[in-house]
Amino acid sequence: MCGIFGVITNQEIPIGKIALEGIKRLEYRGYDSVGIVSQHEGKLFIKKDAGKIDEVHKKLKLDDFPGKVAIAHTRWATHGAPTKVNSHPHTNCTNNIAVVHNGIIENFMTLKKELIRNGHKFRSDTDTEVIPHLIEDKMKEGLDLKESIIEVLKICKGSYGLAILHLDLPDAIIVVRKESPLVIGIEPGKTTYCASDIPAFLPLTRICYILEDCEMAILRAGEVDFFNINTSEKIEKKSQQIEWSIDAAEKGGYKHFMLKEIYEQPTALRQTLKISEDEMKTFAQILLSAENIYITGAGTSLFASLAGKFIISRFLGKFIQAIECSELKIQLKDCLKENSVIIALSQSGETIDTIEAIRWAKKTQNVKILSITNIVGSSITRYSDHVIITRAGPEIGVAATKTYACQVLTLGLISLEIAKLRKQENEEEIQQYEKALKSTPQIIEAFLENNINLIKNTVKNLEKHSNYFFLARGISIGIAKEGGLKLKEVACRFIEGYSAASAKHGPIALVRKNFPIVFIAPPDETYERLIGNVMEFKARGGKIISFVVESDKKITELSDITIRIPQPGNKYFNLFSPITFIPALQLLAYYTAIFHNLNPDKPMNLSKTVTVH
Ligand code: AGP
Repeated sequence: MCGIFGVITNQEIPIGKIALEGIKRLEYRGYDSVGIVSQHEGKLFIKKDAGKIDEVHKKLKLDDFPGKVAIAHTRWATHGAPTKVNSHPHTNCTNNIAVVHNGIIENFMTLKKELIRNGHKFRSDTDTEVIPHLIEDKMKEGLDLKESIIEVLKICKGSYGLAILHLDLPDAIIVVRKESPLVIGIEPGKTTYCASDIPAFLPLTRICYILEDCEMAILRAGEVDFFNINTSEKIEKKSQQIEWSIDAAEKGGYKHFMLKEIYEQPTALRQTLKISEDEMKTFAQILLSAENIYITGAGTSLFASLAGKFIISRFLGKFIQAIECSELKIQLKDCLKENSVIIALSQSGETIDTIEAIRWAKKTQNVKILSITNIVGSSITRYSDHVIITRAGPEIGVAATKTYACQVLTLGLISLEIAKLRKQENEEEIQQYEKALKSTPQIIEAFLENNINLIKNTVKNLEKHSNYFFLARGISIGIAKEGGLKLKEVACRFIEGYSAASAKHGPIALVRKNFPIVFIAPPDETYERLIGNVMEFKARGGKIISFVVESDKKITELSDITIRIPQPGNKYFNLFSPITFIPALQLLAYYTAIFHNLNPDKPMNLSKTVTVH
């Protein structure tokens, strides 16, 4: 869940500045501590400390390093508290090897005890520190650096993206991956980069190689060689051209990535609408012939699944079960059948629980895996039978925003292909749904243009409240949960995102005068019953904040605050309201964070990509 970055060059460029800017672009992966090491004239130069990158940079001048090679790390603490000594890079006893690591060495305790028995001195509580010490031992046995690393990785259990410097190899960085992402960027003949994610070097180069599991790369200035660590043999890899725009990984004029990415939604959706019909058709055909269908993901991706299952079953006529990825194996272990299909959603394509769930399902019953992710070449793509890559562009804000909208849109496009193939609806009807789905970017644009003051005033009105209910029925329960998750993550409020019907079976006991209750209320078949739920909460003094369509009257009359989504109130648009309603809730969360002086891009304790169980 940490971020690693490396740079090696033969150009006259400020290596510290490049390393600092690169690692800053990965800060969404963790911000407990930061460290950079360069090597120059036979010495390692290390600066590291606990804290966010800007704070540490102020103290230590992280842009000032000598030499032409550096590696950097931003940490999300797992083993060992977020302190200076536990910050990466970690070195060996003789301080000639420096290592940065993203992942977990599961058997580090056993390895550490053995190393200590053999006289090694440890400085940190991390799992990572065993690696430089083990490499030191292997090199003492006479192996070169590359072979030593390969031998060390044979005894390390767990996951890693590693970047390693050694004073004896001053013109190289060695990187290796297993289960933690690593990509290589290259300016041929000049500079080579490694990183946990493409946006880290996007402003510097668009030529990229994706390292697969159990592959090693030796980076030299403007060159790279690849090896399979199981055979030690050299392998050939093809480079890829990254299509994301260069400013995609920058904030532009926005104060935060989260705000920028909320505003990017119309463009992201329009790009995703361009995905070929053939890709959607492949998914549609497989779903039509499947007996059991499950849809899975974590966090926001799970909530996109909750919307997606309604949208797809609307046309498929089969029940789709949404299961949280970490629960999938335990819930299906005795009943997963061969002719099943799993739709897996993951923005990053690296969430460990999602990967584990699909790998288990594939191995157990050889079920078909259909994945929707935003990241080309991510782990999920390797374990899936078919993949659709959404075109949201890089999402840097820790809170998922535009990628959620693009996931749901993709599921909408698949559902329309199903409708066309299944022919249960007449053509005109399908066209109406298609028109509604294709209007989602304009609806969001219109909302963003006209409602910011209303959202800000709502935030102000709610300033004293730190507990909320977010209630809805049917397809909108997923919106309530996702909107609530946003407010939890970035604004540190406590939200219960719940079924409005179930709320009277317990949660209603909490309601006192002015307790804020947010209702998500598109005028679908659940609307009349939802009115009853609004009244129940109003009768107990709750403050009602409702998200409704433009023409809404009944729930508006019962509400203290109404936020109107500019879309027609008919069944075609209702079906895609998980896309059009969500920006309003994202903005509510964003401005609440701002109001309470919280940085929405760096919520406490979070990392954008969760690669530990
Ligand atoms: C979303 O705002 C969260 N940061 C988080 O819940 C996220 O959606 C979850 O970790 C899943 O990530 P993925 O989509 O990359 O698999």
